[in-house]
Amino acid sequence: MKYPLEPFKIKVVERIRHTTREEREEIIKEAGYNVFNIPAEKIHIDLLTDSGTSAMSDNQWSGMMLGDESYAGSRNFYNFRDTVKDIFGYQHVIPTHQGRVAENLLFSTIGGPGTYIPNNIHFDTTRANVQSNHSIALDLVIDEAYDPECDHPFKGNMDLDKLEKLVQRVGPDNIPVVMLTITNNSGGGQPVSMQNIRETSELTHRHGLKLVFDACRFAENAYFIKQREAAYADKTILAIAQEMFSYGDGATMSAKKDALVNIGGFLTLNDSALTRQVTNKLIMIEGFPTYGGLAGRDLEAVARGLREVLEEEYLEFRVEQVAYLARCLTEAGVPILKPVGGHAVYLNARGILPHIPSEQFPGQALTVELYLEGGIRGVEIGSLMFAQKDQETGKMTYPELEMVRLAIPRRVYTTGHMRYVAEAIIRIYQRRGEIKGMEILEAPEVLRHFTARMKPLD
Ligand code: F0G
Repeated sequence: MKYPLEPFKIKVVERIRHTTREEREEIIKEAGYNVFNIPAEKIHIDLLTDSGTSAMSDNQWSGMMLGDESYAGSRNFYNFRDTVKDIFGYQHVIPTHQGRVAENLLFSTIGGPGTYIPNNIHFDTTRANVQSNHSIALDLVIDEAYDPECDHPFKGNMDLDKLEKLVQRVGPDNIPVVMLTITNNSGGGQPVSMQNIRETSELTHRHGLKLVFDACRFAENAYFIKQREAAYADKTILAIAQEMFSYGDGATMSAKKDALVNIGGFLTLNDSALTRQVTNKLIMIEGFPTYGGLAGRDLEAVARGLREVLEEEYLEFRVEQVAYLARCLTEAGVPILKPVGGHAVYLNARGILPHIPSEQFPGQALTVELYLEGGIRGVEIGSLMFAQKDQETGKMTYPELEMVRLAIPRRVYTTGHMRYVAEAIIRIYQRRGEIKGMEILEAPEVLRHFTARMKPLD
């Protein structure tokens, strides 16, 4: 398909205000050359995240009018619970207001000193929740995940050898759960194959361990399985999702991604004793177990979104739209992370700006250029986000990849918008030699990319 065709028409529109290049030069300077500090109204195309930025359907909006705001036993909770159970198949469903609360409830209950939580790659909030509960977070993805040129179809796969060695080294008693993130966001939105899910499950259960999915983008993962794993070509997305989850014991979910809503999440588990412990905490921090920090209308929107995300025409468009942007760029020679993942295109900033060393933040320099050139907001995933002082030697260590993530919100932008983004990037690429590195003026010690103030080098 040359141009992905939107499988929807537009009923409500949201105005985008244009800014001139001169205005953007002022705005970014005032923002300390950090796109997190720019008011969203001054952004033309916002690709900061695909989380909580989806456009809801008329079906979801009309469901919101049927919100039952009873404190206990809202009818929307039952619809939500039954929908989650139908797709995921676990016994208990615990609503939360977003994904990281589900993580917090889980790891504050099962984690602790001396325990290890392996994952293909932990997302930042998952890692933070594991570590703040004194467990050790380990990334055991296959090595191919770290090679931006490698075209492996399932670059999110768990490395079973590394997992087996971990179990032998620390013992199964010190591994409260094995996690699997589908798709693997921090590795570029790359899918995990059904075969790898099955084998990870076998290994995990052979040692008496539990497998829990970080399921934010499960439908995109299921679509890739259908496309790339021959045995699944004729199965429905629902059947593929049900099979994926049948190999596990539970899941955390940020509904802000593949439930097509602006807020929501849940934890779903088979273990009744663990569910009781978690539910007691839920009441303290989120609310009664039939609403968990959400309004009844939000639960209805999640239930309806979870059904819509399984529609194949939607997923085909979704994955094709991201691939289309990638294709426009690769045809013009712009280096990107390969293969393109489910929710984002990752620009290879080291490949685009080889003259800017890591200590001058090539990814951030590119992020600033994207804003100046087209009012486009991406996010740096490189040395601004991840470089840190080695605790023993005091030397700075830099990440292997310098990237800029362009995350595509679901059902928000059209193919025309993607073309606009591609053209802006291609113009930047053509004058890449002129682009200068950046320096930090002020920044906190941790999570500095959110608040750092910077300036371009002369
Ligand atoms: N797990 C994964 C894989 C995620 O990508 C995210 C959020 C979370 C958990 C946490 O969910 O935001 O609802 O609390 N990712 C967003 C992003 C923020 O931009 O990639 P949350």
